[in-house]
Amino acid sequence: MRLTESSSDAPGKPSTPGAQDPWGTLPPPGAREAAGVVADVLLPVLAGGVIVRRPRAMALVERTGWDRRGVDRMRALRERYGPGPLPLTVRGRSYAMVLDPQDARRVLRETPEPFSPATWEKRSALAQFQPHGVLISGGQERTRRREFVEEVLETPKPLHDIASRLTGVVREEAALLLEGAERSGQLRWEEFDAAWWRIVRRVVLGDAARDDTTLTAQLGALRSAANWSLASPRRRRLRSAFLARVRSYAARPEPGSLAERVARTPAPAGTDRAGQIPHWLFAYDAAGMATVRALAVLATHPEPAEQARREATAGQPDTPRELPFLRGCALESVRLWPTTPLILRESTAQTSWEGGTLPAGTVFALYTPYLHRAEPAAPYGDSFAPRQWTEETGQEARANPALVPFSSGPAGCPGENLVLFTVSTLLAALVEGHQYTLASHPQLRPSAPIPATLDHFALAFRVNPL
Ligand code: HEM
Repeated sequence: MRLTESSSDAPGKPSTPGAQDPWGTLPPPGAREAAGVVADVLLPVLAGGVIVRRPRAMALVERTGWDRRGVDRMRALRERYGPGPLPLTVRGRSYAMVLDPQDARRVLRETPEPFSPATWEKRSALAQFQPHGVLISGGQERTRRREFVEEVLETPKPLHDIASRLTGVVREEAALLLEGAERSGQLRWEEFDAAWWRIVRRVVLGDAARDDTTLTAQLGALRSAANWSLASPRRRRLRSAFLARVRSYAARPEPGSLAERVARTPAPAGTDRAGQIPHWLFAYDAAGMATVRALAVLATHPEPAEQARREATAGQPDTPRELPFLRGCALESVRLWPTTPLILRESTAQTSWEGGTLPAGTVFALYTPYLHRAEPAAPYGDSFAPRQWTEETGQEARANPALVPFSSGPAGCPGENLVLFTVSTLLAALVEGHQYTLASHPQLRPSAPIPATLDHFALAFRVNPL
C-alpha cells in the first residue's frame, strides 16, 4: 500500500513566491524521504495510540527505539531542506511538518484563524466521547466554550480555588497507595493508575465517583474506538451511557469538585457545560503518565531527587503550595515524553511562508519530540533540566518557542496550571517520606541520554520508607 505521494525522488519543484498555485508552492521532499517520515514519525505515533496508549505497541516502540528514529529523521530533513514547513501528501491529505520554532509559534498564535485546532482527524476521533468538546468546536461555539472552560479551570491561576480540597484528596489517596506499596515493597503502574483515577474522579466529579471504575472503563472503550478514528464505527449506545453518567454527577454537584464549578458558572445556550467534562477526564490520564515518568527520573537522579524532597518537606504539607521545582519536574516529564507528540492545526486559508505558499486545508503538524529535544533552540536535549522552568533561571523555557509541552496560544491547554498543581502535589506526597528505586527497564542514569520513549505501563519501583 502506498501511503505517500510525491512528484520525484529529488527535492521537489522549485518555489515561485507569489504564484497563484492552488496546491501551494513550497517544495515537497522526495518520495523516499516522505515515506521515511510516514514510517518513522507518523506510524509510531499512530501505533502507540493517539487517544489512548496501547500497552503492547508502547513496549514495541520503546524496545525498537522507534521514536528516536523519528527525531533523527526530522533532524536530517531540517538539515537538508531548511526550516520551512515541509509539505507531504499522505493518503491524499496535505500535511506540512513544522520544523522551525518560530513557525511553530506562528501556527499556535494564529489559532483558530487561519490555523484551526478542529482538524478532521481530531473531529473524527474525539467525537467518540466528547462531541461538543472545545477542541473540536469552531466559530462562535469555540469562543463560548473556550471562555467557559477557562473560567471553570481558572486557567491563569497557579492555585485553583479548589486547591484545598484537591490537596486533601491527593494526599489521602497517596497515603493509601503508599500503605499498599510498603506492604508489598513495590509500586507498579497498575496500582498507581488505579489510585490516579480515584483522584481524578474525586477532583472532577466528586467523592461519589471515587470508585466508579465503570465510568473510566466506558471512557477507555470509547477512547480505544477513537484510536481508529473513522475506521471504527461510532459506539453511539456506549457514548450515550457514558455521557449520561457524567451528566448525572454534574446534576448533583459536590462542593469542591470541578462539577460544582461547572454547575455554578453561567454560559450561553449551546455551550454544553457538562459536555466539556469528558475532555478533562480524558486529559487527566496524560497527567498520570507524566507523574509516574517524573518519579522514574527522580528515582534515578539523586541530585534533583534531593531538591524535590527538600521542597516537599518544607512548609505545611496539607496546605496548598506552588512547589515550583516539582512543577518543573512535571514539565520536564512532558517535554521529554510529550503526551501530545503531534499538535495539529488545519489551515482555513492559503498561507505564505518564506519559501512559498501552502493551500487552505493543509494540516500543520508540530512533532514535539523533535522540537523539544533535537531542535537547536532546545538547549537541554536529552537531559533532565527542571530548573529551566523555574524562577531560578527566569523561567527561560517559557520564552522558548521550541518547548510546547502544553501547546500555547489561544488553543493552548487551559488545564495546565491545574495539572501542574495536581501532579506536583502528588509527587510531593510520594517523595517526602519514601525512597524509590527503579526496578524496571530501561534503567535511567544521570550520565546517559534520557531515552526517547519510556513505556509507563512497564514502570515498577521498589519502595522504602525513609
Ligand atoms: C499532562 C497533562 C496534559 C497535557 C500535557 C496537556 C496538553 C494539551 C495540549 C498539547 C493541548 C493542545 C491539543 C491540540 O491542540 O490538539 C491541550 C488542549 C486542551 N487541554 Fe490539556 N493537557 C493535559 C491535561 C489537561 C487536563 C487535566 C485538562 C482539564 C482539566 C485539560 C484541558 C484541555 C482542553 C479543554 C484543551 C482544548 C483547548 C482548546 O481547544 O482551546 N488538559 N492540552
